[in-house]
Amino acid sequence: MLVNTKQMLQDAKNNHYAIPHFNINNLEWTKYILEKSEELKIPVILGVSEGAIKYIGGYHTVVAIVKGLIEDLKITIPVAIHLDHGSSIDSCKNAIDAGFTSVMIDASKHPLDENINITKKVVDYAKDKNISVEAEVGHIGGSEDNITGTSLNATLEDCITLYNSTGIDSIAPALGSVHGFYHGTPNLDFATMKIINEKLPIPLVLHGGTGIPNYDIEKAIECGIAKININTDLQDVWSKAVREFLIKDEKVYDPRKVIGSGEEAIKSRIEEIVILFKTKRG
Ligand code: 13P
Repeated sequence: MLVNTKQMLQDAKNNHYAIPHFNINNLEWTKYILEKSEELKIPVILGVSEGAIKYIGGYHTVVAIVKGLIEDLKITIPVAIHLDHGSSIDSCKNAIDAGFTSVMIDASKHPLDENINITKKVVDYAKDKNISVEAEVGHIGGSEDNITGTSLNATLEDCITLYNSTGIDSIAPALGSVHGFYHGTPNLDFATMKIINEKLPIPLVLHGGTGIPNYDIEKAIECGIAKININTDLQDVWSKAVREFLIKDEKVYDPRKVIGSGEEAIKSRIEEIVILFKTKRG
């Protein structure tokens, strides 16, 4: 069932668990995530970056793949198709028009006033179409598609201002996490996370979920994180499994066997993540 993220994230916020956002890269990735989430009976968010959208073919192709798989695989769990780090109002509009159920507008590289202006325009477009909108405040560093640069932590005041001025459905405050692998130990600002969660009625999102130690993930959920984005982690376990498979069998050439050799690695990692996130099963 295709849904926006409003209800699933609000339930997660109220009941102290996190919904996984898994980035998708292709048809197979999407299929493995949907099959495993259905088996585990959890709601899931399929995050799609602009880079992945381009790679897959376009906004409509992404939606067609997800809808087709939901129907053919008889998926019954709540599934959201979410634009990850939408870089412009147009990109968010394209996603919404194509059938995405949720968008993130990432105007965090702009000063707060400009971030608010851009975010508000996306919220206005999404509101009467029942599409959820996530926005970022501060700046989450690391390398991923169009995201570069160093982190700049969010403040409580900026989070309150962004929420009050736009009416977003969820917020991703940059609090020390980065995209991709960490160089050294992550240093998350749990005190600010907790206070933002207490002061705002909307769910908090943690980007850069890969490489954060389990005890910090648990602490982040205790401090109110309701959605955790995972991308690099699944890419890492998939590519390790595929590399091993290709080294073992030098003669294999069937792409279904090559790509599919990473299926189990993705699925078992999803199960570990869901247990760690304490994601409520339906
Ligand atoms: P990682 O690649 O670090 O898991 O981050 C994913 C992410 O935050 C996507 O928005």
